[in-house]
Amino acid sequence: MSTIVINCKNSLLSDQAKQLSKELGYPMLNSALNLEVKQEMFEYELILDELGISLSPTNAKLHGAIRCDFGSAANTHRRNYGGGSGQAIAKAVGVSGRFRPKVLDLTAGLGADGFVLASLGCSMTLIERNKVVHSLLSDGIERARLAASTDTALGAIIARITLFGQDSKTFLQSLTLEQRPDIIYIDPMFPERKKSAKVKKEMQAFHRIVGSDDDSADLLGLALEQARYRVVVKRSVSAEQLGNLTPSYSLSGKSTRFDVFALNKLPG
Ligand SMILES: C[S@@+](CC[C@H](N)C(=O)[O-])C[C@H]1O[C@@H](n2cnc3c(N)ncnc32)[C@H](O)[C@@H]1O
Repeated sequence: MSTIVINCKNSLLSDQAKQLSKELGYPMLNSALNLEVKQEMFEYELILDELGISLSPTNAKLHGAIRCDFGSAANTHRRNYGGGSGQAIAKAVGVSGRFRPKVLDLTAGLGADGFVLASLGCSMTLIERNKVVHSLLSDGIERARLAASTDTALGAIIARITLFGQDSKTFLQSLTLEQRPDIIYIDPMFPERKKSAKVKKEMQAFHRIVGSDDDSADLLGLALEQARYRVVVKRSVSAEQLGNLTPSYSLSGKSTRFDVFALNKLPG
């Protein structure tokens, strides 16, 4: 696993940085360290500045900062021109004009899929167990909430998202009958490709931070017991089925496949 240091670049944020250091168990950067020593000691730095929290390699040549920015131009473009409920993810989850499901996303990551589904009207509960990823996502949600006064559309989407930082297995086991979600969504880390030229540098960083989700087949087993209508598993298009379980059907795109386990007929 990687070594991380907390780098607070704005003195107004030093209390937040210390709190993060305590929660995550990573040291605060000693500003007296020169760049060479910093790079020897740490692979990544979690940076706090006026733009929020971001993760960068200490060797800046490797790749740029990873941050969760729901108001970014790319997210806004997808929101406006991404295909609405015609997108494969929307069809897999069963979003329609008549049905806007309550979706439990057991593998939130940086919330990209959760945000797309929330923008289509789904009520989203996101769970993320990795503390670094959770802090990036939680910061992204918080900043989108703050932007809501000037971007009401973004505010309405973010209001449909609730985030929990814990293991999804524990979360699933604690659900009461009434709390069962309509749809459960699972997108575990894909195994890292050996020849990784095609894998984006940011994705490689994500692999270094999170590792592989070896328990995802267990997650699917539990999800099948708790979802009211469907469990949807996102895979890379050529990946084997999760847990060797055969889905009811699959929706495949160029690089991604959604395996749909249909449990009951959707309402509407
Ligand atoms: C491939 S990423 C998900 C990407 C996400 N769908 C997105 O659009 O940004 C998988 C994430 O699921 C998280 N995860 C895997 N198993 C989990 C579990 N049992 N409980 C909570 N989080 C889990 C990992 O820490 C990782 O951040």
